Amino acid sequence: MNIRFDGKVVAVTGGAMGFGRAICRRFAALGARVFACDLDATQLAEAAAGTSIATARVDLADRAAAAAWIGDVERAAGGPIDVLVHNAGGTLGRAWARIEEAKDPDWDAILAVNLTAAFALCRAAAGGMRKAGRGRIVTISSGAGLQASRTGIQAYTAAKHGLVGLTRQLAAELGPHGITVNSVAPGLQASTPAKARVWAARAEAEKQAVLNTIALRRLGEPDDIADGVIFLASAHARLITGHVLPVNGGRL
Ligand SMILES: NC(=O)c1ccc[n+]([C@@H]2O[C@H](COP(=O)([O-])OP(=O)(O)OC[C@H]3O[C@@H](n4cnc5c(N)ncnc54)[C@H](O)[C@@H]3O)[C@@H](O)[C@H]2O)c1
Repeated sequence: MNIRFDGKVVAVTGGAMGFGRAICRRFAALGARVFACDLDATQLAEAAAGTSIATARVDLADRAAAAAWIGDVERAAGGPIDVLVHNAGGTLGRAWARIEEAKDPDWDAILAVNLTAAFALCRAAAGGMRKAGRGRIVTISSGAGLQASRTGIQAYTAAKHGLVGLTRQLAAELGPHGITVNSVAPGLQASTPAKARVWAARAEAEKQAVLNTIALRRLGEPDDIADGVIFLASAHARLITGHVLPVNGGRL
């Protein structure tokens, strides 16, 4: 497969670290004009260093700010976004708590970035894509979008299931306009320095028990996720929409 994105306008959320950083760098290496946003301006600047990736600090928990960023990207690019990747999210450092003790602010924060931001971003980007008669949207969901989560965090599982639902619904709505909407569902990865530290601190037996639930017996790398996104955004995936692609080494 010879995949290139020369001149294509690609907007990626959560580009500062982990999967988002790998996704931005992969698109840029394939010729795209990449626009990345994140809450963490320092890590984002580091991610973009030495590349042509344009960066913006955006708090995606603020719907108006999310929509404004899409407008900024379109203005800077001089046209509609070709590929929108909503990757920002995660459990935001929240710990698991029994449902009786789960806190409203934790629920709201996790839903805001993982799900509501996707709604705000897609709503803002859809008009330009519709007019252009083309576009690709890829959401980063999770195994937690398809089944109960290893984290046990209720808000995270609910948000990712919601994100999968939004992905499928928008695929149906936007398909007649030449726009595909798909999701990559990563499995567990030590994708960021913080997550790598947590993984490294786990007992060997505990790590092995997790690896035994993965057919390929490894966690994978952020580039594995980026490759899934690149495929879904490419011409090779032109007839694929409303699909959730697990990239997880085979969950047993
Ligand atoms: N790492 C895993 O094991 C795993 C597994 C399945 C799915 N995922 C999903 O993959 C995506 C990326 O995960 P990751 O592990 O690479 O990184 P992560 O989950 O630690 O963070 C993703 C990025 O989102 C940014 N972000 C958080 N809140 C934000 C906000 N309000 N506004 C703007 N940006 C914000 C963070 O700064 C970070 O750069 C997330 O959606 C996550 O839920 C991760």
